[in-house]
Amino acid sequence: MNPDELLAQAREVAKRAYAPYSGFRVGAVVETDDGSRFSGVNVENSSYPEGWCAETSALAAAATAGYRTIRAVAVACIDAKDGTQTFPCGGCRQRLYEFGTDLVIVPGPEGGSEVYRLDDLLPHGFKLQS
Ligand code: THU
Repeated sequence: MNPDELLAQAREVAKRAYAPYSGFRVGAVVETDDGSRFSGVNVENSSYPEGWCAETSALAAAATAGYRTIRAVAVACIDAKDGTQTFPCGGCRQRLYEFGTDLVIVPGPEGGSEVYRLDDLLPHGFKLQS
């Protein structure tokens, strides 16, 4: 897993975001346990609450392909002000947690990539007991 490479891919895919209402284009790339990658963008809607996040799109693509374990996710917003770090929202942290995501890669405040553990960003995530 190469954080810089994954983040560059997230930045590239963010160009295809559908974000006419917020103007905040986000791209996400998830890497699965066998190294496969799936990308996604945020998809907004004129009924605002019906839009969804880039991470959700990427996870849906991976799940649809049959994957159930995510090693890492890179998230990039190409419209964030310089130096402003953007992290996955709370709902996406929980969605990433569902698939055992270990690492979260975001742009650093001065460029480059920063790697976090999902466990640190979402302590005590929710799991159904069966
Ligand atoms: N957004 C994402 O795609 N991922 C996040 O983790 C946070 C927010 C999107 C949702 C919406 O389309 C736009 O950013 C502004 O909130």
